[in-house]
Amino acid sequence: MKHIFQQGKNECVLLMLHGTGGTERDLLPLAEAIDSNASVLSVRGNVLENGMPRFFRRLAEGVFDEEDLLFRTKELNEFLHDAAEEHGFNRESIIAIGYSNGANIAASLLFHYEKALKAAILHHPMVPRRGIELPSLTGVPIFMAAGENDPICPSQETIDLQQLLDGAGADTTIHWEQNGHMLTGTEVQAAANWYKKNV
Ligand code: MLT
Repeated sequence: MKHIFQQGKNECVLLMLHGTGGTERDLLPLAEAIDSNASVLSVRGNVLENGMPRFFRRLAEGVFDEEDLLFRTKELNEFLHDAAEEHGFNRESIIAIGYSNGANIAASLLFHYEKALKAAILHHPMVPRRGIELPSLTGVPIFMAAGENDPICPSQETIDLQQLLDGAGADTTIHWEQNGHMLTGTEVQAAANWYKKNV
């Protein structure tokens, strides 16, 4: 997959996953704000929707193409194995930081593969898939930022996601804002504070 890798000074690897229409460059400032000493693996989604990169196809806004979601989640998981070998980092040190569609593919990694991620920061995520049994997520720290007035991810979606992740043993925190779907400076600051204490 098209990506940027930046070698860091500590053993953490921040996997940056952009929102619809973004690229692997978008979230580099976020990585710097969360852990400026970590390595950074920032990936571009392989799917194009009217020229806009995404991590998996959707049938309509908020309606995911489940077959493609599964295919792309497997593809990303395999890419992470290959990237760990290529760049010489520990596959089990990956912390995903995703926004919107990027948060959704990160959640899908957590839903489908045990030990896929060491921790995750999900900005405005949705439930990637319902009605499946999740792998064990015992002790995996997960931060979610959500907007009470987010038209794309209604509050209940965030609450449902938290319940599903907690049910698999994850250690989740939700940071609520009154805003909509946008990624705000205050939620990034909250994520940075959470990261210092939990990762
Ligand atoms: C998605 O399709 O993943 C979500 O609706 C968020 C978005 O990218 O608009």
